[in-house]
Amino acid sequence: MRELDVTNVRFAYEDGTEALRGIDFHCESGEFIAVLGSNGSGKTTLIHLIVGLLKAKSGEIRLGGRRIEDLSAEELTQRVGLVFQNPGDQLFAATVGEDCAFGPRNLSLPEEEVQRRVSEALAAVQALQLRDRAIHHLSFGEQKRVSLAGVMAMRPSVLILDEPTAGLDPAGEAQMLQLLKRLNRDEGITVVLATHSVDMLPLFADRIYVLDGGRVLQAGPSEEIFCQQEMIVRAKLRLPYVSRLMYEMKRHDGVPIDGLPLTIGEARAQLLELIPKEMLGTENGGKR
Ligand SMILES: Nc1ncnc2c1ncn2[C@@H]1O[C@H](COP(=O)(O)OP(=O)(O)OP(=O)(O)O)[C@@H](O)[C@H]1O
Ligand SMILES: [Mg+2]
Repeated sequence: MRELDVTNVRFAYEDGTEALRGIDFHCESGEFIAVLGSNGSGKTTLIHLIVGLLKAKSGEIRLGGRRIEDLSAEELTQRVGLVFQNPGDQLFAATVGEDCAFGPRNLSLPEEEVQRRVSEALAAVQALQLRDRAIHHLSFGEQKRVSLAGVMAMRPSVLILDEPTAGLDPAGEAQMLQLLKRLNRDEGITVVLATHSVDMLPLFADRIYVLDGGRVLQAGPSEEIFCQQEMIVRAKLRLPYVSRLMYEMKRHDGVPIDGLPLTIGEARAQLLELIPKEMLGTENGGKR
């Protein structure tokens, strides 16, 4: 089922800055989509239009087939959840538990149900142990997970995240993306995330939209996007490091590589194919 349809959307801020210049974007229910773009390319603006925080100048945004203008604020917040880039823009209650309870309480649910949702949401982001902690005592990474729990407590069918891994250490980044992938795969939640971090994306995103100057430069699966080195550079981005290394080996050293590997696992498999078995050490038995 088509979850989200953005058709020819334009948006300019009050000072005249044209942030989006005709965007087409769509996603199916259950997809994991990455919106990839450099600073100022329009990612946050697009996200804010989708959740109804901003209103498009022209074009149309449909959620589950219905125009967002025709959805009530309640329907919209229950259907789409936005996790802000900066947890400070989102978290405001004194404790973690209270913060996560805010959204469900606004739905006038019985308190028992509110607390059940808070427990489930905190468990989903592996933060149940933080329930009684003061928000302002949490580390940045913990705040990111708690922001996500607050949105999960509303049980949205679409989860939109603005730079969910920005400011996280490498382990935190991997953990956050794995968590999102699990919610996507096991709970069937549609995930749309905005980012300019490329190295881990190929492992997670079903499809990628590359934004540049308020336009979609290219859209497609990771392997189609990251084999277009020139387009990626035009978008002021870079290839994942492992793809870049293989690209240089192919171009400068003539190493015969098909396509471009996107992950270390793919690169390793391709290189092992090129190395005679007898030259490989015995430690791993030359496992291919
Ligand atoms: N409130 C605002 N008023 C005027 N212009 C704005 C405003 N917010 C954003 N812009 C401009 O709109 C364009 C798109 O900004 P946006 O924040 O959507 O980009 P982004 O892709 O999210 O960037 P980043 O990676 O830095 O978060 C930029 O040129 C930016 O300067
Ligand atoms: Mg942004």
